[in-house]
Amino acid sequence: MTRLLLCGCGGKMGAAVQNFVRQREDCQIVAGVDLAGMPQEGFPVYTGIAEVCEPIDVIIDFSHPSALPSILDYGKAHPGAAAVLCTTGYTPEQTAVIHEAAKTMPLFYSRNMSLGVNLLIELSKKAARVLGTDFDVEILEMHHNQKIDAPSGTALMLADAINEERENAMKYVYDRHSQRKKREKGEIGLHSVRGGTIVGEHQVIFSGQQEVITLSHSAQSKELFASGAINAAVFMQGKGPGLYSMPDLL
Ligand SMILES: NC(=O)c1ccc[n+]([C@@H]2O[C@H](COP(=O)([O-])OP(=O)(O)OC[C@H]3O[C@@H](n4cnc5c(N)ncnc54)[C@H](O)[C@@H]3O)[C@@H](O)[C@H]2O)c1
Repeated sequence: MTRLLLCGCGGKMGAAVQNFVRQREDCQIVAGVDLAGMPQEGFPVYTGIAEVCEPIDVIIDFSHPSALPSILDYGKAHPGAAAVLCTTGYTPEQTAVIHEAAKTMPLFYSRNMSLGVNLLIELSKKAARVLGTDFDVEILEMHHNQKIDAPSGTALMLADAINEERENAMKYVYDRHSQRKKREKGEIGLHSVRGGTIVGEHQVIFSGQQEVITLSHSAQSKELFASGAINAAVFMQGKGPGLYSMPDLL
């Protein structure tokens, strides 16, 4: 039985994780953390992770980048505790901190916890490899009107994966409005649409001289990410220090 600490338990993803955990027999939420401190059914909620006194195996974090230092401090104070970091919107400096912390703490980090999206990433890498530099790459992502960060963490994961195939020589362009000039060859354009209750759409468009190939993924429910996070947490129980991600789980 994996004992979970759910950080961001009062949020939308926190609610989805709770729903899923109730249906499972291999894990249970023993404590929650949320700045808002709203009480939840079945476990105590704290406003800071340092206050948690229940023994736990794995932290699942769906909160905010500002929670990162306290999660890593908790890991230092509780050797053996692992964390599944699902929050998006970390700065490059915070991402570097995650890599450093993984030398002494078991950390699982993925900006997208869906199996389908991780397959989309693999397919996009293959398309970039096969189609070569003659094809222009543009990524379009669409999310609900409550999302704070743009472009989405997943759009950046897709861009990074394609960029890796092109020896990290690509330049990311987020805004074509600010400059009046033609598209350059080595660009990846990233475009964000926000509206209504869209759960998460990603399209990777490869445009050549005579043809266009579009790879796409459509998330139809947030539960999808909750389920992936729980699977990751169960996988992480008892793991040694290191940085783990979806390919390790697959
Ligand atoms: N990796 C993935 O697959 C994936 C999927 C969906 C959402 N997300 C990310 O998960 C995060 C949460 O998403 P959401 O839709 O549930 O947002 P939300 O705004 O509904 O919930 C966030 C919760 O975290 C709490 N919170 C904020 N700062 C905190 C802190 N420092 N410490 C503790 N609690 C804090 C808030 O009070 C809120 O209850 C976002 O970064 C989102 O982009 C990731």
